[in-house]
Amino acid sequence: MTDLLPGGGGAAAALPPVRATEGLRLGWIRRLWPVLGPQRWVVTGSFLVGLVALTINVAVPTVVGVTIDDAIASTGSRLEPFLVGLAALAIARGLLSVVYRYGLYRTAYRVEVDVRGLLFRHLLDQSASFYDRVQTGQLVSRAQSDVRSVQLYLAVAPLILTALLSFLLAVVVMLATSVPLTLAAVAALPGVYVIGVALRNRLFPLSWIIQGRQAEVTGVVAESIAGVRVVQSFGAESRQVAEMARAARRLRWANVEQGTVRARLAPLLENLPRVGSVLVLLLGGWLVIEGRLEIGAIIAFNAYIVLLQVPFRFLGFFLILSQRARASAERIFEVLDEVPEITDPDDPVTVRSHRGHLELEDVRFGYGDGPDLLRGVDLVVEPGETVAIVGSSGSGKSTLARLLCRVYDPRSGTVRLDGVALCDLPVADVRRSVVVVPDEPFLFSTTLGENLAFGRPDLLGLGPAEEVRQVAQAVDAAGFIEATEAGYDTPVGERGSTLSGGQRQRLALGRALLVDPEVLILDDATSAIDVHVEARIHRALDRHRAGRTTILVAHRLSTITLASRVVLLDDGVVADTGTHAELLARSARYREVLATTLDADTGTDAETDTGTDVGDPSRDDGAAP
Ligand SMILES: Nc1ncnc2c1ncn2[C@@H]1O[C@H](COP(=O)(O)OP(=O)(O)OP(=O)(O)O)[C@@H](O)[C@H]1O
Ligand SMILES: [Mg+2]
Repeated sequence: MTDLLPGGGGAAAALPPVRATEGLRLGWIRRLWPVLGPQRWVVTGSFLVGLVALTINVAVPTVVGVTIDDAIASTGSRLEPFLVGLAALAIARGLLSVVYRYGLYRTAYRVEVDVRGLLFRHLLDQSASFYDRVQTGQLVSRAQSDVRSVQLYLAVAPLILTALLSFLLAVVVMLATSVPLTLAAVAALPGVYVIGVALRNRLFPLSWIIQGRQAEVTGVVAESIAGVRVVQSFGAESRQVAEMARAARRLRWANVEQGTVRARLAPLLENLPRVGSVLVLLLGGWLVIEGRLEIGAIIAFNAYIVLLQVPFRFLGFFLILSQRARASAERIFEVLDEVPEITDPDDPVTVRSHRGHLELEDVRFGYGDGPDLLRGVDLVVEPGETVAIVGSSGSGKSTLARLLCRVYDPRSGTVRLDGVALCDLPVADVRRSVVVVPDEPFLFSTTLGENLAFGRPDLLGLGPAEEVRQVAQAVDAAGFIEATEAGYDTPVGERGSTLSGGQRQRLALGRALLVDPEVLILDDATSAIDVHVEARIHRALDRHRAGRTTILVAHRLSTITLASRVVLLDDGVVADTGTHAELLARSARYREVLATTLDADTGTDAETDTGTDVGDPSRDDGAAP
C-alpha cells in the first residue's frame, strides 16, 4: 500500500467528500507513470505544439486590432497583406490544433487500454479469497467507469492547462496595451469563477447520485432479464416493472435536480462576461474619444474577453474532473495493490511428470476469519486410485477439493502432490495436474467445440479436432452435439443456457478431460446425468487414461460404488476410510450420512436401507459455521 491510499476501504468503499483542494493533489499521476511514461514524448510534443497554437490564438486579436488601426481606420497600410497574414495564422492554428488534440487523445486512449489491461490481468490473478470478499458486479462496473474517468481527465487536463497558459499570455499582451482597459476586461471574471465553483459544488454530488441510480436501473433490468424464467414462472412481471419504475423515478429526480441547477446558474455563467464587454466599450470608447487609445484595441479586447473566460468557466469543471479522476485512480490502485494470495513460490520445484499421488497432512482450513472447517485432515490417495469422498452437506467436501488444486491454501498442514507441497510447485503446474469439475459448471457463451477445448488453446479454431471428438465420445456428449445442426459450432447461449444440466455437466467433464490431468476431481460433477450414462462415462474415463487418480464427491450410491475406496469426511476430519461395504458394515455414522445425503432417486436403494436412524436432520447441517 502506498501513502496515497486511504487505509483498507475495500473496492466498494464510499466516496470521499468533495474538497476544493483535493483535485489538485497529483500524486496519483506519479503512480500511473509506468503506463504514462512510454507516452511522454508524444505528450511533450503535443503540448509544445499546443503552446504554439495558443500563442497564435493570443496574437490574432492583436493583429486584428492593428489591421483596423493601420489599414481601415487610417490609410497607412494596405489591407491585403493583413488579410493574408490573418488567414495564414488561422490555417496554422487550425492545423496545429489538429496535431495537438490528436496527440493528447491518442495518449489518453492508449493509457485507457493499458490500464484496463493491467486491471483485468490483475483481477484474473486474484485468488478465490478476494472474490469471496468483494462484490464482483460492482467491481466490474466500477472498474469500467473508473478507467473512463481517468482517461477523460488525461485527455482534458492538458487542454485546460494550455487554456490557462493562454489566459496568462493574453493578460500580459493586454496589460502592455492598456492597464485600465485590462482591468475593465477582467472585472467580471471573479464572478465567473465564483459561479463556476457554485455550479460545481451543486453538480458534483448530483453526478455521483445519478451514476449510482443509473446503476440501480441497470441492475434491476439486468437481473430481471437474467432471471426472466423465474420472473415469468412466478407471474412477477408487474412487480419487476414496478421496481424498475421506482428506480427510474429516483433517477429522474436526480436528473431533474441537475437540470434545475444548470438552468439557474449556466445562463449567468454565460452572460457575465458580457459585463466585461460593456465595461470595455464604455472605458475604451471614452479613451478613444479622448484620443488616448486606438479603436483597434477595443476590438482586440472584446476578442480577449471571450478568450479569457474559457479557462475560468472550465476551471470548475476541471476541478470536478480531477477530483473524480483521483478518486477513480485510487480505487484502481486499491485493486492493483491487492496481492494475490496464491502465487508461485520464489524457488519453485520443477517436476518433469506427475503421477497423481496426493497427500494431505494435518490440514486445517476455514474461510476468511471463520472457524476451522477442516480440523486436521490426513489422507493419502495413491496414483491411479479412485476414491469417493462422502460427508453430510456442508461438511467441507468441495472445500477439500479446492485445497487439492490450490484454490485456497490451508491454514496449517500440507497438501502434497507426488511428495511436493503444492505451495512449492508453480501454480500453473498444480492447476494443470489437478482439475476439479464442479456440479454447476460455468460455460462461456461461445460454441460447444470451443467450450470443450477451453483448456487447450492449441485445438481452438481448427474445427473439431479428432481429440475433441474422442473426448466428446468418452463423456457421452458426441450424441447430442452431432444431433445439432451446426455440431461443434453450435453456440451454447449465455452460460450455456441452451443446454440441459446434464449436457452442461458432460461438456465440463470433456473440457477437463482434454487437459488430461493426472488427478481428476469430480465434485458431484455427474449429479444431473442418468445413472446408466454415468457408469458408461466412468468406464470411458478409465479407458481414456489408465492410472489417473480420480476423486469423486458423491451424493449417489451409484457414484460411490464406482470408487475402490470411500473416505468419510465428518466433523472436519477423515472419520473412517475403507470400501463401501466395509464402512457400511462397521460405521454407524457412515450409514447415517448416507441415509441423509443420498439423492432421492437412489435413496430408496436396498443397500442404504440399513435400519439405522435416519431421522436426525440436525446432523445434516448445511448451514454456514
Ligand atoms: N467461499 C466460501 N466462503 C465462506 N464460506 C464458504 C465458502 N464456500 C463454502 N463455505 C462454507 O463452508 C462449508 C463447507 O462448504 P462445502 O462447499 O465444502 O460443503 P460440501 O461438503 O461440498 O457440501 P455439499 O455436499 O452441499 O456440496 C459450508 O458451511 C459453506 O457454507
Ligand atoms: Mg459441495
